[in-house]
Amino acid sequence: MSSTTPDSQRLFFALWPGAALQEIIDSRAHKLIGKRAKRVPAHNLHITLAFLGPVSRGRRDCYEQAAAGIQSQTFTLSLQRIGHWPKPRILWLGPSQQPELLLTLVQNLNAALSLCGYTPETRPYQAHMTLARKVDRPMPVREIEPIDWVVDNFALVESVTAEEGACYQVLDRWSLQHAT
Ligand code: 2AM
Repeated sequence: MSSTTPDSQRLFFALWPGAALQEIIDSRAHKLIGKRAKRVPAHNLHITLAFLGPVSRGRRDCYEQAAAGIQSQTFTLSLQRIGHWPKPRILWLGPSQQPELLLTLVQNLNAALSLCGYTPETRPYQAHMTLARKVDRPMPVREIEPIDWVVDNFALVESVTAEEGACYQVLDRWSLQHAT
């Protein structure tokens, strides 16, 4: 994990579900995972778009202005696949197919953030919601009954490392545009 200084915050852009959807996902995760692993708490469930790491105040202002200029459209994300990645040791929930509009949003965001000095991930984007961490027991990928999420905004989030694990705070949100 990267460290922060008193002048920096650990930030990321994310799709952040409303509390009702977080509860729906959490209760489904409970049924699917059971006691196999300690789950991420409902209020922490999200999908990262771009991980920024430690960010100074000046850089944050630039990132926020970049986010405000994003012109991407709303889309529906159908969460219908659950699986395990051994390297990051997580159980994840994600779409079977990533909507084009989601990929466009990530692309637009990366391009805008780059103008502030951000270096985008070189690995292809893979939308996923981490449901549980520190999971070593493999679980084959499987399709589940879809949970449809109408995504109409994205958020800037701060991650604070607390004793009980990461604590996330949504700092700001920007609306996506409805298709005409
Ligand atoms: P993960 O859920 O797959 O771990 C906050 O840490 C969020 O940023 C998490 O959703 C995490 O994804 C994501 N993230 C992406 N790259 C990261 C990195 N290098 N370090 C920590 N978190 C990262």
